[in-house]
Amino acid sequence: MVKTDFLLPLNMTKYIVVTGGAGYIGSHTVVSLVEQGFTPIILDDFRNANRIVISGLKTILEKEPIILEFDICNPEFISSVFQTYSPQAVIHFAAYKAVGESVAEPLKYYQNNISGLVNVLQKMLEYNINNFVFSSSCTVYGEPDGNKEVSEETEKNLPNSPYGYTKWMGEQIIQDTFNAYDHLKIINLRYFNPVGAHKSALIGEFPIGRPNNLLPFVTQTAIGKQEVLTVFGNDYPTPDGTCIRDYIHVCDLANAHVKAVDFLLQQEKGILENINIGTGKGTSVKEIIETFEKETGVPLNWQYGPRRSGDVIEIFANAEKAWDLLGWKSELTIKDAIIDAWNWEKHLA
Ligand code: UFG
Repeated sequence: MVKTDFLLPLNMTKYIVVTGGAGYIGSHTVVSLVEQGFTPIILDDFRNANRIVISGLKTILEKEPIILEFDICNPEFISSVFQTYSPQAVIHFAAYKAVGESVAEPLKYYQNNISGLVNVLQKMLEYNINNFVFSSSCTVYGEPDGNKEVSEETEKNLPNSPYGYTKWMGEQIIQDTFNAYDHLKIINLRYFNPVGAHKSALIGEFPIGRPNNLLPFVTQTAIGKQEVLTVFGNDYPTPDGTCIRDYIHVCDLANAHVKAVDFLLQQEKGILENINIGTGKGTSVKEIIETFEKETGVPLNWQYGPRRSGDVIEIFANAEKAWDLLGWKSELTIKDAIIDAWNWEKHLA
């Protein structure tokens, strides 16, 4: 293949389309992209994001971000964006992500998460955009048999929710598309549990309604928005009886996307890789509570309750491939994440 990079003017803007760029992980990735010299184009219709993010981004970036407020399920809109900006890559976040809601409203999840992905991929082919980063999840491993430290070679298991299936099927759709169009350059980032907020406390997670995830529930309980945190089960086969996850700071996770884009832009041939993004360390629910109380000095009202159906007992990442391929590893700790999440919660109050 003939290299043409040298033909590009030096000042050429490096546009990256970020679907769902006003959401939790998307907005932090926008910050990382700008820090690394890219110009993100945020596509978001704010159905699952809060406008407070826009002012936060403006302050952090010291400029107005480019935000196009549309539904990515609208193919004409995607066409016009791709035509206007000729982006170097697409990072695809836009998707619903609440496990419980997906059980109650499966079609909403299949419609948005699957048709949004198909739409974006179709338009990428049409407009010759070859670089794609997909927001996947460790949910594709299900409950790991045996070793709880999962690598990308660990066999995938069937997920236990429609949400999980949309990630699992998303990866399959991508694999099939790559098999047919092997000039594409794609990374599926399999996130473990994203937590924390930007250190400025100007952007962070904004759960719509009652939070499902642990850390937002912890901070909302501490600030008084929720009465009591229930720990779902204390009779699991783990050292303290509570479930274990790999909690990854959202700013580290955001950086992984920029590294993924950089890596793809350097490739001369098509490629498809799955990469775990986690810290490599498991932390129990009880340890999260103890760390929160210790680091913030705020006592938490919590109690044990029954197990939550569908919960994985224990899982954490083997993140060696991210280091080997992308030169990425997590730098922030669970303490950093807890302090940043707490500052964000106080900022919202
Ligand atoms: N937990 C509680 N109380 C709560 C909320 C959570 O005890 O109020 C516990 C859960 O039982 C679990 C741990 O905290 O043991 C983490 O739960 P989260 O809901 O924060 O995260 P999950 O690991 O269940 O879910 C995450 C992502 C999903 C993804 C899934 C795949 O949020 O998007 O991992 O494993 F599908």
